Amino acid sequence: MKKTALILAAGQGTRMKSKTPKVLHKVCGKPMLSCVIDAAAGAGIEENIVVIGHGAVEVRERFAEAGVKFAVQEHQLGTGHAVMMAKDLLPEEGLVLVLCGDTPLITAGTLEKLIAYHERQGNTLTVLTARVEDPFGYGRIVRDDAGGLLKIVEEKDADEETKEIDEINSGMYCFEAGFLKNSLGKLTNDNAQQEYYITQLIEIALAEGAKAGAVAVKDADEIMGVNNRVQLADAEALMRRRINRRHMMEGVTFIDPAAAYIDFDVQIGRDTRIGPGVILRGKTVIGEDCEIGQNCRIEDSVIGNGVSIQSSTILESTVGDETTIGPCAYLRPHAHLGRKVKIGDFVEVKNASIGDGSKASHLAYIGDADVGREVNIGCGVVFVNYDGINKFRSVVEDDAFIGSNSNLIAPVHVEKQGYIAAGTTISRDVPEGSLVVGRPKERVIPTWGARKYNQKKEKKNAK
Ligand code: UD1
Ligand code: CA
Repeated sequence: MKKTALILAAGQGTRMKSKTPKVLHKVCGKPMLSCVIDAAAGAGIEENIVVIGHGAVEVRERFAEAGVKFAVQEHQLGTGHAVMMAKDLLPEEGLVLVLCGDTPLITAGTLEKLIAYHERQGNTLTVLTARVEDPFGYGRIVRDDAGGLLKIVEEKDADEETKEIDEINSGMYCFEAGFLKNSLGKLTNDNAQQEYYITQLIEIALAEGAKAGAVAVKDADEIMGVNNRVQLADAEALMRRRINRRHMMEGVTFIDPAAAYIDFDVQIGRDTRIGPGVILRGKTVIGEDCEIGQNCRIEDSVIGNGVSIQSSTILESTVGDETTIGPCAYLRPHAHLGRKVKIGDFVEVKNASIGDGSKASHLAYIGDADVGREVNIGCGVVFVNYDGINKFRSVVEDDAFIGSNSNLIAPVHVEKQGYIAAGTTISRDVPEGSLVVGRPKERVIPTWGARKYNQKKEKKNAK
């Protein structure tokens, strides 16, 4: 049976106090609307229709390539009105799941259960509900003595007795497509908010003798709507717990799972340990047996097996097996490190490849370069890649030695086993196996230091 999702996302999201439309705010790196679309996809939804209004241009742009259809609701006259705006896009047959764009914690499993319950009961419409401690603000589920669904009453329309009901409307439903499409014309706005309520469709269905039912979600967190930044942080924390739990179940150790911030799609191998304050973003892949120490930020990078990283930032880069990085190293986009490389403290690498077994242990800048294997890059080495107008690339071949505090003025080519003495500035190519020393000759002036020292002492005593 064809399954379509209709996702309501036209609301203003005023309480977010944001320039960004609410459904584009991210939870664990994913826009809330994507979280809902992905959950729907996981439940076998083939087509998504999103009702947009506030921030329509931005939402449409962000989801242009997601294969989503859009309906625009210019004035937010209620959830029923939002569905009306999508009428022409709704299918004649099959099931329509009506979802909200601001409930990022909904899971495919729960939507599957909603669909299964709906089909098993032979319902025309089924509401997903939850029992909550504080039902304030939600529509209340009113049932008859036998437990059958009667109607949903909004907070603003509820009397005191109804307000006591702790079963609430999640705002998510499963509909027979034909019923939904053909009943929209019957909605009225005769209520406290003068809005068209989608929930009125329950009474319309029952009046026609059709079957309407309700099924409660197990974990009420799943239907949590995000209306402000506090709820956004709450949703993020819940999602973080889910993601990190999944990794732990797959064999990853966390020092403190509440303090590791890992995006949805990140992959982590077994027996890797994640320290506190670690941020793993985007499409990052981490291998097995790695040590990702405290305060690392790794984005869209691929890290091999047995890699150790301490307090470092790695962006759009690749790192080979058994390499060690940090503390306080910075791998900028397109740094490609081989196996058993060592990148030590305060080393920056950008748009450069570094071969197996090479080392830059402290305080160096390696930009726009191809560095071979077993190369030693001393402390304070700078690849001078920029002349103020253009950038140039340098090549350092296998087994070369770049002494401390050398400058390599690009473009320059250091051939195999080239040896650059400490403190040398290189602006010409270095032939294979040769030494280049480019230091000014020292002069030794005897007793100069002693005289200076004595002068200083006299001045101090005179005070
Ligand atoms: C609605 C339900 C309420 C339920 C609650 C769950 C109705 C009448 N009430 O409340 O029973 O407990 O959701 O969160 O349906 N939206 C539009 N256009 C509109 C109005 C809303 O697209 O004109 C969208 C919002 O962007 C949001 C969703 O619909 O994604 C829910 O709207 P919201 O205003 O948060 O819910 P309520 O109407 O208060
Ligand atoms: Ca409302």
